[in-house]
Amino acid sequence: MNDRPSTKEESSHTGNHIVVTGGVGFLGSYLCRALLERGDRVTAIDNLSTGRRARVENLTAHPHFALRIADVTTPGAFADLATITHVAHLACPGSPKATVRRPIDTLRAASTGTLAALDLAASRGARIVVASGPDSNGDPRNTGLAGDCHVHALCARIAEVIARHYGGADVGIVRPFEVYGPHQWPGDGRIAATICSAALRDQTLQVIDSDVRSFVYIADTVDALVAMLDSTTTGPVDIGGPAAVTTAEFAHTATALAGSGWVEVAPADLIVPTAHSPNLDRTHAVLGWRPSTPLDNGLRHTLDWMRTILPPYPPWDRG
Ligand SMILES: NC(=O)c1ccc[n+]([C@@H]2O[C@H](COP(=O)([O-])OP(=O)(O)OC[C@H]3O[C@@H](n4cnc5c(N)ncnc54)[C@H](O)[C@@H]3O)[C@@H](O)[C@H]2O)c1
Repeated sequence: MNDRPSTKEESSHTGNHIVVTGGVGFLGSYLCRALLERGDRVTAIDNLSTGRRARVENLTAHPHFALRIADVTTPGAFADLATITHVAHLACPGSPKATVRRPIDTLRAASTGTLAALDLAASRGARIVVASGPDSNGDPRNTGLAGDCHVHALCARIAEVIARHYGGADVGIVRPFEVYGPHQWPGDGRIAATICSAALRDQTLQVIDSDVRSFVYIADTVDALVAMLDSTTTGPVDIGGPAAVTTAEFAHTATALAGSGWVEVAPADLIVPTAHSPNLDRTHAVLGWRPSTPLDNGLRHTLDWMRTILPPYPPWDRG
């Protein structure tokens, strides 16, 4: 771990200085770019457990960007960050697969990591935005809060509960729903990337017929995160897509745009999540934000990017 600030972290800059934990993650890397583009100074902190350094490769030369490789649950991760104005706390594995592989690391990031980020913000008088998730509305029928204690949803809930009760800091809580877009890696188990890569590989997509989700494009998500950093609202604020769609509809759209793959709809599971309807009127009222990217546009960009990273699957390889 490198606790030492780089020269760039110490350089003078008169505007915002925003710490983005999980800054090379899916959400974090886009947020870093957006903040730099509007003139903020950004320090990304990431332990590279699920993040990919390549996502910020084109930012590293930016005079107001610094990447610190550190684990937010360890002492020293936030050392020498004297002048920060905001913290965006996104350091927690975001894919269900990663949380299954690393349950204790995920629980530690959601608990100890969130507390450490809140301590940092409180001690510097900085605004902090903490990422929770769609299952955190307290409905016991939701996945993760009932039955087998699913780590992924539980960790979002833990982070949210800690942030809500912390006190002494200017806290904002966001609940991103099903975020999708370029740079979401196909192998990490998230539904959108899994569907897109299967479609491009001309595979069969098995989806559950009553599974309704709120897919929100990454650019819209980042706009909402920036608005939340700039606001003084506590939330929780939902970040969802323009329309609720079933996973089957999402898959049908992906296969149509990809020109390959086909969809097999399976009967509904016994547990049907109930939290997958964001309250976007409330979000609009406090942030003035609404998602604006239609599903087919977002999916087109996502598929275009994914084509660049998938190995070629020639037509004669279709089984
Ligand atoms: N992507 C979504 O659809 C979505 C939906 C709801 C909530 N969220 C939440 O938003 C946050 C970010 O999600 P994401 O999709 O970008 O996930 P991600 O896994 O792509 O990014 C998380 C980043 O945090 C880093 N990280 C993990 N533990 C760390 C630690 N202890 N110290 C330092 N860095 C650490 C990882 O290396 C990674 O770069 C997560 O808290 C996630 O639960 C995401």
